[in-house]
Amino acid sequence: MAIAIASDHGGFELKQHLVAYYAKKGISLVDLGTHSSDSCDYPDIAKVMCEKIKSGEVETGILICGTGIGISIAANRYKGIRAAILYSDDVAALVRQHNNANIAVLGGRTMGFDEAAGRMDIFLNTAFDGGRHERRIEKLDSLEGC
Ligand code: RB5
Repeated sequence: MAIAIASDHGGFELKQHLVAYYAKKGISLVDLGTHSSDSCDYPDIAKVMCEKIKSGEVETGILICGTGIGISIAANRYKGIRAAILYSDDVAALVRQHNNANIAVLGGRTMGFDEAAGRMDIFLNTAFDGGRHERRIEKLDSLEGC
C-alpha cells in the first residue's frame, strides 16, 4: 500500500531529504507537496493527505511542518485519522503499537534528518498490537462532535 508524504514550507527541506532517502532504499513515496519553499498553510496540506487516506488511496502518511504541531492538530480533526508526532524513538514505536497511528508527524525545524529518518524507519517497521488498544481506538471515532 502507498505511503504518502507532504509538508508545508517549514518541512519542505526535510521532506525532500526523506523522499530521496526512501528512493535510495527502493521505496517510492507519493509526494503530495508542497513543491517549493514558498510559504503555504499547513491546514491545506493536512487536508490533501487526510482525504487521500480516507479514500483508501494511501494507507500511511508522513506530514511535516516546522514543529509538527500545527499540521498534527489539523490532521487529527479528520475522523479516522490518527496523526502522531514522533518526538522520540520509543514514541515512534509506541504510536504504532498502541495508537495504530496512520500518519507520522515530524518537525522540519525541530528534528535533524538522521533523527527523523531513524524514527520513520521505526514507525514503518512496527505493527499495531491490537487487543485492548482496538477498543480504545474505536472510542476515538465516537468522540466526534464532542
Ligand atoms: C510555519 O511558519 C510554521 O508556523 C508551521 O510550519 C508550523 O510550525 C506550525 O505549527
